[in-house]
Amino acid sequence: MDTRPILFFDSGVGGLSIVGPARAALPDAPFVYAADSAGFPYGTKSEAEIAARVPVLLGRLAERYRPRLIVIACNTASTIALPVVRAALDLPVVGTVPAIKPAALLSKTRTIGVLGTEATVRQAYVDDLAAKFAGDCTVLRYGSAALVEMAEAKLHGRPVAPERYAAVLDGLFSQPGGERIDVIVNACTHFPLVEAELAAAAPGVRFVDGGPGIARRIVHLMQGESWSGAGGGIAVFTRLGDDECALGPALAVRGFARIEQL
Ligand code: SIN
Repeated sequence: MDTRPILFFDSGVGGLSIVGPARAALPDAPFVYAADSAGFPYGTKSEAEIAARVPVLLGRLAERYRPRLIVIACNTASTIALPVVRAALDLPVVGTVPAIKPAALLSKTRTIGVLGTEATVRQAYVDDLAAKFAGDCTVLRYGSAALVEMAEAKLHGRPVAPERYAAVLDGLFSQPGGERIDVIVNACTHFPLVEAELAAAAPGVRFVDGGPGIARRIVHLMQGESWSGAGGGIAVFTRLGDDECALGPALAVRGFARIEQL
């Protein structure tokens, strides 16, 4: 029986927004969810730090858990480290791309907002995606480290004032032409975890993210694989303190009943 899992990697809890659609598509597959809690947050780190850190951690995780597929469920890590990780590991590695293409298909005003970390929104790669898939749209961007922390707080059960979501969105809406935005790309995997709060602060605006597209890609790559049938999985942290243990209930409802330290 092949028990090798699919391994999801993020700086924190954000990748759980990718786990949701993937779990629905492959309920029998065992998952490992790895969070670099010792390195969190990534969005405010330099590219050099992320490029040095992520391949090393994924190498250690691959050695320990022998996954059949790795999903880098973090936009920041994907935009910076994906090619190096792919070159280093002899297994399929899926990255996370801002969902500009589906946003362009939905936008009626031809004005799209891209909400990510500062590290993600400043990438030339976002320009390339905008030029390729949203050439006739105005694409406005905003990087928010605060929203990453707010999503982490929510999963830890800590309250966040609703006005703070409106303040983050103002970073997009207050830009020239921002009042025309009708679709926002959640270009950080943390942000779909607070989509209900964002939507409440931006009535009439639609939000899109990469989760459904990544689930389709995983299913495609895993065609013909057989699973042990149990599903479930392990959550692993690079630092396992009280804060990470407090995530136990949020992880358990997503099928991760066991927690380990890398
Ligand atoms: C963060 O750690 O700052 C979030 C990274 C991301 O999902 O882009």
